[in-house]
Amino acid sequence: MKIAPSLLSADFADIRAQIDLVARAGADYLHLDVMDGRFVPNLTWGPKIIHDLRPLSKLPFDTHLMIVEPERYVADFVKAGADIVTVHWEATVHANRLIHQIKELGVRAGLAVNPATSLSVLGEILPYIDLLLIMSVNPGFGGQSYIPTSTAKIAAARRLIAERDLSIELEVDGGVSLDNVVEVFRAGAETVVMGAGLFGTPDPAATLRQVRDVVAHSSNARMERSNSFDR
Ligand code: DX5
Ligand code: ZN
Repeated sequence: MKIAPSLLSADFADIRAQIDLVARAGADYLHLDVMDGRFVPNLTWGPKIIHDLRPLSKLPFDTHLMIVEPERYVADFVKAGADIVTVHWEATVHANRLIHQIKELGVRAGLAVNPATSLSVLGEILPYIDLLLIMSVNPGFGGQSYIPTSTAKIAAARRLIAERDLSIELEVDGGVSLDNVVEVFRAGAETVVMGAGLFGTPDPAATLRQVRDVVAHSSNARMERSNSFDR
């Protein structure tokens, strides 16, 4: 399991300390939400901020572009220090060209799908992507509630990846908290993004450790159960 704290919910006046906090608690990535006020009704930051954050952490920068015409900007984000560049299927007409463009820049290419987008549109692009991001809220804001039907979608995405024997990282973004993270991992997520579910809690580092514990505990319990069935 991987945990990607979303800096959208962090305090930017104290960003160095906030990054250190989650890094020391064992975060796997830093998730950076880029919003343009067009693809989503909110604005965040562009390559300059990512460039300035880059020296503050060795963690991979998981960059989630919620912008129209992402093909115009992917090179700038890679130059700024992104390690994973995820674009929305809904934001581009030529997803295949764009995924190749990202890979040619030497970073991992992710594709995100909105809650209303069916997995059935992904058949042709799946073999080319490194990461599939299932949105479990409508993108644009932190702190929204997890859409319950996302669990079945995550499970379906996991099956799709397994059936086709692909090695694609399955990431889930939106409304993930200590209360539902076990459900999300059990459905087949490999990586969860957590914004308000971490930074909105009194002690984000302790919450991150707790998340890891509850997930590890639930998968150990599952393994023990299946071992006892074998016997
Ligand atoms: C939403 C962003 C998310 C957001 C998640 O549009 O893509 O990454 O930060 O925040 P929470 O975990 O608070 O839903
Ligand atoms: Zn995101």
